Amino acid sequence: MSGARAVTTNQTDIYDKLEEVVRKYASTEYLRPIADHTRIAFAEAEKFIEGFYGDSGRDKDGAVFDDNRAGRIEDSAGRVTYKVILDSGCGTGESTLNIALAHSGIPVIGIDKSVARLAKAGAGLNKGLNSAAPQNAFLVRAELLDFWRLALEKVKAGQWHIPYHALYYPNPWPKQSEATRRFHLHPIFPTLLQLGDAIELRTNWEIYAREFAEATRVLDSILSLRSRMTTFGSRMTTGTTISHEAFEPEQPITAFERKYKEARQQLWRVTINHVQI
Ligand SMILES: C[S@@+](CC[C@H](N)C(=O)[O-])C[C@H]1O[C@@H](n2cnc3c(N)ncnc32)[C@H](O)[C@@H]1O
Repeated sequence: MSGARAVTTNQTDIYDKLEEVVRKYASTEYLRPIADHTRIAFAEAEKFIEGFYGDSGRDKDGAVFDDNRAGRIEDSAGRVTYKVILDSGCGTGESTLNIALAHSGIPVIGIDKSVARLAKAGAGLNKGLNSAAPQNAFLVRAELLDFWRLALEKVKAGQWHIPYHALYYPNPWPKQSEATRRFHLHPIFPTLLQLGDAIELRTNWEIYAREFAEATRVLDSILSLRSRMTTFGSRMTTGTTISHEAFEPEQPITAFERKYKEARQQLWRVTINHVQI
């Protein structure tokens, strides 16, 4: 894997047009048609989630469950919301498994467009070939820019609630000329920022972390996320906190994280929390 190399870039500071780009996309909608293959993958993820939570306390295999599916919430009117965790750009799916182990009551969907990477773990995981895999982990091959828009529809409809969204080591697109391919400088960013009470970005490039945090600040101030109704239920956000720090994982939880750690690279983390009442 060439990922262990430090990022090579001609950028010495955050992208100089960051605010302008984020402002532009704050008031536009990303309208590129959603690819059929991602619609199909999304439907598979939905089926997995419904199977995981089951009907009337039975999972997809008919086994009775009681309290471990903690992410199924039914209100007094019988409306059901499923908690779902996203692991966007999951690569070989190692992080999906680790997150699933840490949140056994909630389905964790790992999403990546690379067949080759998913094949390393995903095929085994989804076909039940990996007996050690937690039953709440599921991998799909999909385009994030499309999957995220479909996910936001579910959140807005009150059907999904995403407590945590992992974005571990996205492609940095480090050349200045490629800057607008970075998720935070792309028209998809307002969608991404609404997907998760907590969003955690990990990267080995400090400038990427600083940009992601700054783009969040800019967009947050424009969209007034601080006082806006959230899209699920009647809860409101009381504010958005953004932290940006260097960190060293004791135990790497992704393939890239392990390579970076072995290469003694400094890692960075941005944590965004949309605080709920
Ligand atoms: C640098 S790798 C990190 C993989 C994994 N998170 C890890 O830490 O080992 C970035 C991953 O994001 C995926 N990716 C990048 N852009 C994507 C997109 N638009 N849709 C889906 N996957 C994407 C790539 O296929 C790749 O597996």
